[in-house]
Amino acid sequence: MKQRILTGIQSSGKLHIGNYFGSMKPNLELAETHEAFLMIADLHALTTLRNAEELRENTFDVALDFLACGLDPEKTTFFRQSAVPEHTELTWILATLTPLGMLERAHSFKDKMAKGLDINAGLFTYPILMACDILLYDPHFVPVGKDQKQHVEMARDIAMKFNAAYGEGFPVLPEPLISEQTGIIPGIDGQKMSKSYRNTIDIFASEKELQKQIMSIVTDSKGVADPKDPDTCTVFALAKLFFTADELADLRAKYLQGGFGYGDAKKWLFEKVNAYFAPMREKRKHFIEHPERVQNILRLGNERARGFAKAKMEKIHELVGL
Ligand code: TRP
Repeated sequence: MKQRILTGIQSSGKLHIGNYFGSMKPNLELAETHEAFLMIADLHALTTLRNAEELRENTFDVALDFLACGLDPEKTTFFRQSAVPEHTELTWILATLTPLGMLERAHSFKDKMAKGLDINAGLFTYPILMACDILLYDPHFVPVGKDQKQHVEMARDIAMKFNAAYGEGFPVLPEPLISEQTGIIPGIDGQKMSKSYRNTIDIFASEKELQKQIMSIVTDSKGVADPKDPDTCTVFALAKLFFTADELADLRAKYLQGGFGYGDAKKWLFEKVNAYFAPMREKRKHFIEHPERVQNILRLGNERARGFAKAKMEKIHELVGL
């Protein structure tokens, strides 16, 4: 029997190379070897977004991104959190078991407090909703970034509290699965690639835009003739993600030898990146032209997820006396 994984994603804007290799690709690979659930966390998005049009658009965009990058709806139950009302129902029940102190210790909450941001009760109880996202489906593993590890641990704690109070409602205690990032993926300025640093290379940008982003990668000022150090160069670091071993060895030799400019390296990188993402860009275009296909995939995923969630809620009702 395959082990089950579940993860949730909140739209964070345009998909870039950092997101793709850091989170999307590992998730898609895990779905090949596990029974996978992938949820678009639109209820979580409400804690910070108050624009119906934007929320709908973000939800659709996340779906497009995953389908374009190869999510197979036969293998992954791909669904929208808000389409399964059991998530919010279980949130109430588990809220009655969650100590305030646990929520106060959440890093995400503390960070926002420290920044003096406006905190609503939804943001404060966010980890309970996330615990429910997880616990409704009994997954063994929850693939997440480091920043979400604590939330998964809270889900475990809350499950244990429930089990201690009422009996085995949640027989599987989920474990966080932190993808071993193979080094930080640098953005065009050499810092970690991140939307907030405005240094991204966006994988669904037009070919022209992609070229522009890659050509603007910052390098040192060595001239064409100079030998160059591949190990401190952002272009080379990015090439590692897209080049075959032979190509990379060739590129390294060219750097060391000199007579090969950064412009040449960038052009080569652009060709490789473009070839890598071109089929996905095509696929995304196809889905944009057939939005009903996207909606259909989600509808089937929603129904399948709901089946699991309903069965779990029946058991929970029985255990707590509702
Ligand atoms: N909070 C997660 C994030 O911001 C998204 C998320 C919501 C999630 N529910 C989840 C992740 C359940 C894993 C499991 O990235």
